[in-house]
Amino acid sequence: MKLFDVYPLYNVTPVKAEGCYVWDENNIKYLDLYGGHGVISVGHTHPKYVADLTNQLQKIGFYSNSVQMPLQVELAEKLGKLSGSENYNLFLCNSGAEANENALKLASFITGKSRVLAFTNSFHGRTSAAVAVTDNKSINAPINLQQKVTFLPLNDIELVIHEIGKGDVAAVIIEGIQGVGGLDEGTTEFFQEVQKVCNKNCVLLILDEIQSGYGRSGKFFAFQYHHIQPDIITTAKGMANGFPIGGVLISDVFKAKYGSLGTTFGGNHLACTAAISVLDIIEEEKLIANVNEVSNYFMEEIKQIPEVKKVKGRGLMLGVEFDFEVGELRKKLIFDKHIFTGGSNNKNLLRILPPLTITKAQIDEFIKALKEVLSQ
Ligand SMILES: Cc1ncc(COP(=O)(O)O)c(C=O)c1O
Repeated sequence: MKLFDVYPLYNVTPVKAEGCYVWDENNIKYLDLYGGHGVISVGHTHPKYVADLTNQLQKIGFYSNSVQMPLQVELAEKLGKLSGSENYNLFLCNSGAEANENALKLASFITGKSRVLAFTNSFHGRTSAAVAVTDNKSINAPINLQQKVTFLPLNDIELVIHEIGKGDVAAVIIEGIQGVGGLDEGTTEFFQEVQKVCNKNCVLLILDEIQSGYGRSGKFFAFQYHHIQPDIITTAKGMANGFPIGGVLISDVFKAKYGSLGTTFGGNHLACTAAISVLDIIEEEKLIANVNEVSNYFMEEIKQIPEVKKVKGRGLMLGVEFDFEVGELRKKLIFDKHIFTGGSNNKNLLRILPPLTITKAQIDEFIKALKEVLSQ
């Protein structure tokens, strides 16, 4: 059997990793400024993470959601505390798309409505409702187009008010900072007005923090820059440093009903252990402070490169914009300089999503390599 060939691949084969570095089968060392789509939060093969998962695997790896699961309770308590979300309840699933799928389903159950407002250039995942609220026709199949979705430009509150006024909207879904779309974000005024109009009309506000959450933005959740309280928050990616997991944080004003949501694998022993380990490391190693410190350093250094036209994003969720397409630049960074970076819908944007443990010296490594590549 061959693989279903849906991914264009770089010709690199990582076989081991540690911290912010990855090695290929020829023992070539790469600086990882992409963390496999923003997943590696506490660094590759962090010793505590490896020990915690190994210990758990030797005890019990999995049982279904029909028995007591103290690890889920511990995860919910720690996540609530560290993220300042103690007035939310946690539903665990297996990926970002699944988290958004469940969030949208819940909003529809609660409101009895089905239309969703989403934003231009959004990315929310690939499953049924999640892909329907993703602003990319080419990844929506005919079966996905039966969902009722209206896309609006970011920061146009009048259009949001107009659409919600029609009375059929279940939810507004918005990324804390757009990832795949290219690092655009709502203004504080926009987030606050959206929350107001949602509250007034019993429409649920869903904050997709799958990429921007878990400290990556310099706060635990990016929406915390805007002083709002979403009805539902979705998380995944950095949550378990590569172990598949997704989380739906649901405001405790909404009551759960047996059977309304469910999953076989979600919240299993290994996933919870990985997620608890990540939270412990974020706290013990003060990684959010590191994000802010290294981010400020990055901003200062990158602005001194004349070819850089703009730097977008926050914390260690950054986009470096040029006035040319960055495809070739990314190839040179990988193959000549051995540095992984990311791309986005904005072809002129180099996306930087390193582990939250990255150091200033590693940023220096990148800046030096970028200058050399740009001067070729
Ligand atoms: C903001 C956002 N939401 C949802 C998803 C989907 O997550 P997953 O690929 O885990 O399904 C992604 C993935 O890139 C994302 O960036």
